[in-house]
Amino acid sequence: MQRYDAIIIGGGAAGLYAAFHAGRRGRRVLVLEHNAEVGAKILISGGGRCNFTNLNAAPERFISANPHFARSALARHTQHDFTALVQKHRIPFYEKTLGQLFCEGARSSQRIVRMLLDECAAAGVEVRCGVRVRDVRRAERFSVETSAGAFDSETLTIATGGLSIPKLGAGGFAFEIAKQFGLPVTPTRPGLVPLTFGEGDLGWMRPLSGVSADVTVRAGKAAFREAALFTHRGLSGPSVLQASSYRAPGEAIVIDWLPQADEDALAQRKRERPKAQLKSILAELLSERLAAALAEQLPHGAVGDMKDAALIEAARRLKAWPLTPIGDEGYAKAEVMVGGIDTDALSQQTMETRAVSGLFFIGEAVDVTGWLGGYNFQWAWSSGWAAGQAL
Ligand code: FDA
Repeated sequence: MQRYDAIIIGGGAAGLYAAFHAGRRGRRVLVLEHNAEVGAKILISGGGRCNFTNLNAAPERFISANPHFARSALARHTQHDFTALVQKHRIPFYEKTLGQLFCEGARSSQRIVRMLLDECAAAGVEVRCGVRVRDVRRAERFSVETSAGAFDSETLTIATGGLSIPKLGAGGFAFEIAKQFGLPVTPTRPGLVPLTFGEGDLGWMRPLSGVSADVTVRAGKAAFREAALFTHRGLSGPSVLQASSYRAPGEAIVIDWLPQADEDALAQRKRERPKAQLKSILAELLSERLAAALAEQLPHGAVGDMKDAALIEAARRLKAWPLTPIGDEGYAKAEVMVGGIDTDALSQQTMETRAVSGLFFIGEAVDVTGWLGGYNFQWAWSSGWAAGQAL
């Protein structure tokens, strides 16, 4: 039996980050990763350039049954702290849009993984890959039985991530441990996920596959103005992915196809071009194909023949166009999982469970889900750091 101060299960963003912060405090740390290598999601993130944080990270940009839970960790270890580490390792980065910080260059996300491993090595952390955890027990200390032997530790941290992208090694290990120790879990579902539609809607949507548009998408009280993209099965693109995390199953999303225009925009254009068809007027505001597809579903004819009230009504429809998805592309395509270990069970200072002393949960396994744009990594860093001070 090999003895440690801290065993961390899961060598992803949160696990590696917690590991070297605990190691720096002189703790003897072991990371157990079941994949052959650590950081699979970091490697593919941001199209290989890892959108590692967001300048605008703030508690309001995270979804959780307790919206206040993430506040402490996010405030104590911020996007600027993580960015300082990236700078210390001389990794070039840039702001792409909306505060999103990306590494520069193809496959540059490798450099973030290298940075985390270098910090782990410097802090004396042992990282073991290709290890299957078979059993976890707790008596005085935690004992972890694995395919590589038995390990014993004062603390145990679960950093096994969420359920999205099973082919990268994601799974429900955190929930098995929660069940074993009687900890609550809030309902989980795919987040930041493309939405799928039934044949009725796909009749007009599918021919637009590949077309993107600057829109505002609403789901519940949330609204996102960014691009939407038509796919063969429905809608994707940043605005739709963001809305998907807020949409309750079965609920409609509402799209504003003309976020840049007022309700009287069509009526005003009628004065300039009374002979124009509504579809041509719309094509001044939208791409031609999208304008034609939407105009098909509105009154036809020359705008000069339409009353102002009818044009205002058409603009209102275009600005609040409800669409009810039949579902989503599921965990195979979702960037994150919404829901997870109930934050009521955890200390917001340290991520330690209240009921089981020495047991910690961090990262995406916890019921804290960020917006698209570097927020989910920031949660992994902040929660990992918080635990790293206490392990
Ligand atoms: P993470 O998934 O990183 O790590 C968990 C680790 O635990 C993995 O290495 C896994 O193999 C291991 N593990 C699982 N079960 C285990 C078990 N039973 N035993 C041992 N090990 C086990 N976010 C962002 O902020 N910016 C971005 O650019 C992107 N891009 C992006 C692209 C794609 C395609 C996806 C799927 C996701 C993103 N994300 C993102 C989200 C981000 O990757 C995610 O939120 C973090 O990686 C979560 O960090 P964790 O450490 O919690 O889990």
